[in-house]
Amino acid sequence: MTQYPFLVPCLLGLEGLIAEELRGMGAAQVRAENGRVFFSGGLEIAARANIRSRFAERVQIVLGQFEARSFEELFQGAKALPWEEWLGQSDAFPVKGYSLHSGLFSVSDCQSILKKAVVERLKGVYRQDWFDETGPVHQIQFSIMKDKVTLVLDTSGVGLHKRGYRLQAGGAPLKETLAAALCHISKLRPYHTMYDPMCGSGTILIEGALMARNLAPGLRRNFSAERWDQIPRGIWREERELAEGLATEASQFLAFGSDVDPQAIAIAQENARRAGVGDCLRFTQAKLEDFSHPTERGTLITNPPYGERLLDAAQAEELTGLMGKLFSARRGWSYTILSPSETFEQTFGRKADARRKLYNGMLKCQAFMFYKS
Ligand SMILES: C[S@@+](CC[C@H](N)C(=O)[O-])C[C@H]1O[C@@H](n2cnc3c(N)ncnc32)[C@H](O)[C@@H]1O
Repeated sequence: MTQYPFLVPCLLGLEGLIAEELRGMGAAQVRAENGRVFFSGGLEIAARANIRSRFAERVQIVLGQFEARSFEELFQGAKALPWEEWLGQSDAFPVKGYSLHSGLFSVSDCQSILKKAVVERLKGVYRQDWFDETGPVHQIQFSIMKDKVTLVLDTSGVGLHKRGYRLQAGGAPLKETLAAALCHISKLRPYHTMYDPMCGSGTILIEGALMARNLAPGLRRNFSAERWDQIPRGIWREERELAEGLATEASQFLAFGSDVDPQAIAIAQENARRAGVGDCLRFTQAKLEDFSHPTERGTLITNPPYGERLLDAAQAEELTGLMGKLFSARRGWSYTILSPSETFEQTFGRKADARRKLYNGMLKCQAFMFYKS
């Protein structure tokens, strides 16, 4: 089967997890760099990664990479690529992208040069002067870093963190991909009892439940390349069936979420129901102050207010001190807390057993993990 080069953009800090995830899906030549992971594979791997990846932001087909320091080099480099392999006569092909530390810094100029180059290429191939672009969207994305141009076609459409279950978010929701990563690094297992006492819209618990049941996060949504003529429809159907077959519905997994805000609890309940995991999640309105250890063992993962979007800095600090008292070292219990605070451990009152650097959007955070009793 033909192998293609692919690129997966991701949140900073998740590259290693994605590389491991992609290898597990059968991807070859997996190579991680800052904020992106390259791999090669057949079209079925691209569909699989879209449907099953918990950590990737998108799956893109790499059309080409070349150096360009002038608009002429950009134009010629792009025109030389075989766009006709992916773009039909009536397909839509909008162009967007970014440039960093490069001679070609005007994004809008690069955008129009690239569009012109693709049109010129297609004019020659299809012998037509006008492209009405009424067909399925094939989003072209460019990145120029240190004068190196990468041109890709996006197969995902809406970012993969949008699983399709979150109609409503609370005040400061966590990206689903980051929530899934927190569950993964906390070594969440299907036989665990999970807790999030500041659960907001329930993202961490929902991602935990999807993981525990081996439910693919993309089963309830569509991807833009599903409408492309260039990828046989059967591939998507087969990959969906394969992913469905891997789910373990009869898991003993149970998770408990609470939040001080009753509206957040209503949203979390609705999101859990829409994600198809409502039956193994229990939500109640409660203050963190009332948290006790209701079970002998527990995996607690939480994303408290940082004192930026919610609460002020002093209140956030007070909450960290409170967590330190409540989340006592106990046999069978582990705690993972995501925080941007440089002084988190001092305020919490204990040194973490492990720490992991992660980015919540642009905000540099750490997952502080406590598991020793
Ligand atoms: C950053 S948000 C969590 C967002 C969540 N991870 C999500 O994806 O929607 C923090 C949550 O902590 C809750 N909270 C703040 N103070 C609390 C307290 N004392 N007890 C319980 N919940 C609290 C807020 O209502 C808010 O929903």
